[in-house]
Amino acid sequence: MPNRAIIIGTGSALPSRLLTNRDLEAMVETSDEWIKTRTGIEQRYIVGEGETNSFLATRAAKNALEMAGVRPQELDLIIVGTLTPDTPMPSVACLVQKELGAKKAGAFDLSATCSGFIYGLSIADKFIRDNRKMKILVIGSEVLSRRVNWTDRTTCVLFGDGAGAAVVTGTKEDRGILSTHLHADGALGDLLTIKGLGTAHPVTMEMLELGWQYIQMQGREVFKHAVKALESVAWEALNANGWTTDQVDLLIAHQANMRILDFLREKLGLTTDKVFINIHKYGNTSAASIPIALDEANRSRLLLPGSKLLMVAFGGGFTWGSLAMRW
Ligand code: UT7
Repeated sequence: MPNRAIIIGTGSALPSRLLTNRDLEAMVETSDEWIKTRTGIEQRYIVGEGETNSFLATRAAKNALEMAGVRPQELDLIIVGTLTPDTPMPSVACLVQKELGAKKAGAFDLSATCSGFIYGLSIADKFIRDNRKMKILVIGSEVLSRRVNWTDRTTCVLFGDGAGAAVVTGTKEDRGILSTHLHADGALGDLLTIKGLGTAHPVTMEMLELGWQYIQMQGREVFKHAVKALESVAWEALNANGWTTDQVDLLIAHQANMRILDFLREKLGLTTDKVFINIHKYGNTSAASIPIALDEANRSRLLLPGSKLLMVAFGGGFTWGSLAMRW
């Protein structure tokens, strides 16, 4: 048997402030009804005083390490998928490394938006295929509330903050990560973007007046691309493993919109119990969405030894990808 990467612990963390659709009704011209029917979102959590991306990421990591029975000093690598780091430098991964005291671990952030966790797991998988003794912490963590224009109803109702983590190591057994497929299309990047705050458009009065410090999305266009890409990458994973859809025990897809999840379920012919949903509780948490869902599915024992799990993600960039594994 070749080396295979397995997930031996999962964890998640949410910030303290609950923001309901009703709360948003008092902030922008929107309604609980519109948000629920167009997106499925009922509430989301956002950071309060003293809560940062690395704070959430560290809490999620500690939960995952505890479940795995792995000490921080045993970690070889920490990968954090995020588009909302505390600072450009040091990375969130280095801040987590410091907080955990993971002295021997290398650490880096990965920029693949909502696909960050799948991209991160695919890198971990490649390391572990070479050396199954490695222990790698993969995190998706976001503080999108600090990149949202709270006066723009087309985006501010969608996003939430949070973090999820997984501890990955290797086995010789016939289980674990079976395939990963990564894709991108930079030509469509303008449809979902934060134009400013990078080095191309640093902070100037003009940039701030244009609102380029905020997430801007052409929602309907993104929606169309998301459904197509998610469906095609799901089939790509199924075909690569010779799986039929009725063999899938659980689909965890990026939680961006309930209508996208319904579309995907119908296209793949899956029953509702096989598609994990938590968007109503957390909104769209970008790179954190899949690892939070994975942790919830794992802790509620929806994943049992041998379960066939398919994960699919899509996000700004555009980036998208899939991961198939036997739990
Ligand atoms: O995570 C990365 C990937 N992201 C996604 O996959 C997101 C994909 N896109 C979507 O989920 C959906 O396009 C949205 C939820 C963002 C928007 O839903 P939609 O059904 O595409 O609505 P729309 O943008 O076409 O807007 C429909 C109407 C518009 O009014 P008019 O022009 O028809 O009069 C909007 O102005 O709804 C209006 N609207 C709102 N009304 C109340 C937009 N936002 C709101 C709001 N409350 N928050």
